[in-house]
Amino acid sequence: MTTRQKNIFYNSLFLAGCGGILLFLLFAPRETTKSLPHDQNHERFMSMNKKEAEKFCETCHNPKGQAPLPEMHPPKYRCLFCHKRK
Ligand code: HEC
Ligand code: HEC
Repeated sequence: MTTRQKNIFYNSLFLAGCGGILLFLLFAPRETTKSLPHDQNHERFMSMNKKEAEKFCETCHNPKGQAPLPEMHPPKYRCLFCHKRK
C-alpha cells in the first residue's frame, strides 16, 4: 500500500471505531432500577438531603418491617444512588 492508502485505511478504521462506540451508547440498555415512588411514604424524601433521607429508609425497609427488601437485593449502602428521585 502507498502511504496515502494507508492513511485512508487507518482513518476509516478509526471512524468505524468511533461509530461503533456511538451506536453502543445510543442503544445502551435503559436504566431499570425502580425510582423512589411518589406516595405518602416517600414524598417527604424528595426534597431532603440524600444522606439525611437514607437514614429513614430502613425503618420500613427492613426484614421485619412493612416493606422488606427482596432477597436478591444488591448491597444496600446508599439507597438513593440506585433508586433515583425523579
Ligand atoms: C414509612 C415507611 C417507608 C419509608 C420510610 C420508606 N419506604 Fe420505600 N416503600 C414503603 C412501602 C410500604 C413500599 C411498598 C408499597 C409501595 O410501592 O409504595 C415501598 C416501596 C419502595 C420502593 C419500590 C417502589 C416500586 O416501584 O416498587 C422503593 C425503591 C423504595 N420504597 C425506596 C425507599 C427509599 C430509598 C427510602 C428512603 C429514602 C424509603 N423507601 C423509605 C414504605 C417506606
Ligand atoms: C447498588 C444499587 C442499590 C442500592 C444501593 C439499593 N438498591 Fe434497592 N434495588 C436495587 C435493584 C437492582 C433492585 C431490583 C430491581 C428492581 O428495582 O426491581 C432493588 C429493589 C428494591 C426494592 C423492591 C422493588 C420492587 O421490585 O418492589 C426496594 C423496596 C428497594 N430496592 C429499596 C432499597 C432501599 C430502602 C435501599 C437502601 C437501604 C436500597 N434499595 C439500596 C438496587 C439498589
